[in-house]
Amino acid sequence: MSRERILELREILRRLSREYYELDSPTVSDQEYDRYMQELIDLENEYPDMADPSSPTQKVGGEVLEGFVKVAHKTRMISLANAFNYEDLLAFDERVRKVVPHATYQVELKMDGLAMSLHYAHGQFKQAVTRGDGSVGEDVTNNVKTIASIPMSIPYQNDLEVRGEVIMPKAVFEKLNEERKENGEEPFANPRNAAAGSIRQLDSSIARKRKLDAYWYFLMDAQALGCHTQSEALSFLDHNGIKTNPLRRICKDIDEAWSFIQEMTERRNDLPYEIDGMVLKVNELDRWEEIGETVKSPKWAIAYKFPAEEVITRLKDIKITVGRTGKITPNAVLEPVRVAGSLVSAATLHNEDMIATKDVRINDFVVIHKAGDIIPEVVRSLPERRDEHSQKYVFPKYCPICHSPLVRYPDEAAHYCINQDCPARVSESIIHFASREAMNIDTLGSKRVELFCEKGIFKSVEDIYSLKDKRDELLKLEGFKEKSVDKLLNAIEASKQNPLEDLVFGLGIRQVGKKAARILAQHFKTMDALMQASKEELTQIRDIGEITAISILDFFALESNRQMIEKLRVAGCRMDSDQIETNESMFTNKTVVLTGSLSLFTRDEARALLERLGANVASSVSKKTDLVIYGENAGSKLEKALQLNVSVMDEATFMEEVNKYESI
Ligand code: IVH
Repeated sequence: MSRERILELREILRRLSREYYELDSPTVSDQEYDRYMQELIDLENEYPDMADPSSPTQKVGGEVLEGFVKVAHKTRMISLANAFNYEDLLAFDERVRKVVPHATYQVELKMDGLAMSLHYAHGQFKQAVTRGDGSVGEDVTNNVKTIASIPMSIPYQNDLEVRGEVIMPKAVFEKLNEERKENGEEPFANPRNAAAGSIRQLDSSIARKRKLDAYWYFLMDAQALGCHTQSEALSFLDHNGIKTNPLRRICKDIDEAWSFIQEMTERRNDLPYEIDGMVLKVNELDRWEEIGETVKSPKWAIAYKFPAEEVITRLKDIKITVGRTGKITPNAVLEPVRVAGSLVSAATLHNEDMIATKDVRINDFVVIHKAGDIIPEVVRSLPERRDEHSQKYVFPKYCPICHSPLVRYPDEAAHYCINQDCPARVSESIIHFASREAMNIDTLGSKRVELFCEKGIFKSVEDIYSLKDKRDELLKLEGFKEKSVDKLLNAIEASKQNPLEDLVFGLGIRQVGKKAARILAQHFKTMDALMQASKEELTQIRDIGEITAISILDFFALESNRQMIEKLRVAGCRMDSDQIETNESMFTNKTVVLTGSLSLFTRDEARALLERLGANVASSVSKKTDLVIYGENAGSKLEKALQLNVSVMDEATFMEEVNKYESI
């Protein structure tokens, strides 16, 4: 019944909206979201008595997040109505032309990122605020300041507000996800989520590392600034060094707009950033008021959304893989099919619940798309095309490799094989141990590890270091000549000298990625100290939370793990850390004092950066001080430095210097 469906759709959309806007972790594609939204819009139009101001159709974004200062937008940050095809655009054009018969359109790319409002005062960058719920957003100034393309000062000297989109370029996104996977972290679903996740970090050094970019498309009060059209407003931004997207066109009618849309649909995959559609704006600013707006969106603009490239193929089978932590992942084996530029023959099905929710069965026809146009995903099955070969998938109760019972922990969607000796886990653990980010044994890749496991040469991680006793056996294997065996054995020997952090990461302790491994190694300095650490000691370390601490304790509580470490020690692996690595820089061996409030870093971050660059950071200024770095409201320390003729440096210059050395 339609009225019930309205309530149900509102519930669904509230959940999906929370996942999208607040958790940065959507569970459905944008297209599915739009489909639900459109269904609700249509039903609400049909049943006007069901109108409700709190309906998702009346809302703009997500809720405001905790942890950031809230800022009210002077003018609400509204969104745009969507068009999905040519007919929708024609209908929009017709509505516009009733009011403005000779309207032209400024057609722009619809950047797929995080909407943002920027404020300048007296030519200086002042504040950046997210959209939030449209009325109130979060002050993310410090994070936005890390975006290199945003000018800190502009020629225009009066107050100015611009709106636009913070994005993560595709190349940065791919690199980030590679790193996250290597560190055992969950990859981001798409560049938009990655950008949003980076902006929503309380620690701005994370945003800085993420190399975000931004494009600005909306000048507030443009008419008061002398602009007559949207294209003039964009030129105004260009003249002020505020980055706009040059890929835009003024179109005299909807057909010209449509052909620009067709052109960009073709070129979309070649752009260095993601776009999810195109935006049409009536170019004549002085007619906007007459055309008017609804609570949610203006009537003088519309967003055309690209259809996702979805293709249909047959799901031939579901195959389970076992990760090094024992995590079980079901994968769809597909009849190979081309999607968004590449051939896809497998797609993850994530977990048991996902298979049930999507009702995916073996031999079903399924719809495939690429999430964020990158990761192949099964969108849904097509039950209407099922035949007698369709077969419900029964999730295994036992590990397909070692046959021990699978476990599903409360609150977790994944199943685990908890047998430490499961051959699949063992080989994945060895692959991880030897990987570049861990012990970096570059001649021991996954193919070789799998081969050695198959032949019984490797039964556990420590067997890597007794490989030298099996030289003859190796030489008998196909493709292994004296030279390659020597190269392999030498690389293994060399890895023994790696510092503790590589070894700790290589152990594959759950929750301990590369960064945590480095922090632990630097804190405890030796493996013994780390193995003896208590929960209190661990949780007191910055960046080590309770879950990580428990996981570390669990790992070292296992006798088999302690034995493995002992064997690695006996084999000659180094069990202590390097001194903190420092980079030669202008700060090396200098005594530096920080004063005033820094806006780009916390004090701790600035201190850590300086130490990494070789400085000795002191707290008070004396004749021995080489340099004082000052932020806003610096007081007596800065004065003293000036009196003593000590060099001083403002925060912006410090940032420039740091950027020269830090490749982050
Ligand atoms: S204009 C009041 N132009 O898409 C008009 N929006 O679905 C403000 N977006 O809320 C929006 N590229 O977050 C506009 N060239 C563009 C855009 C753009 C991306 C985003 C923006 C907007 C949403 C609408």
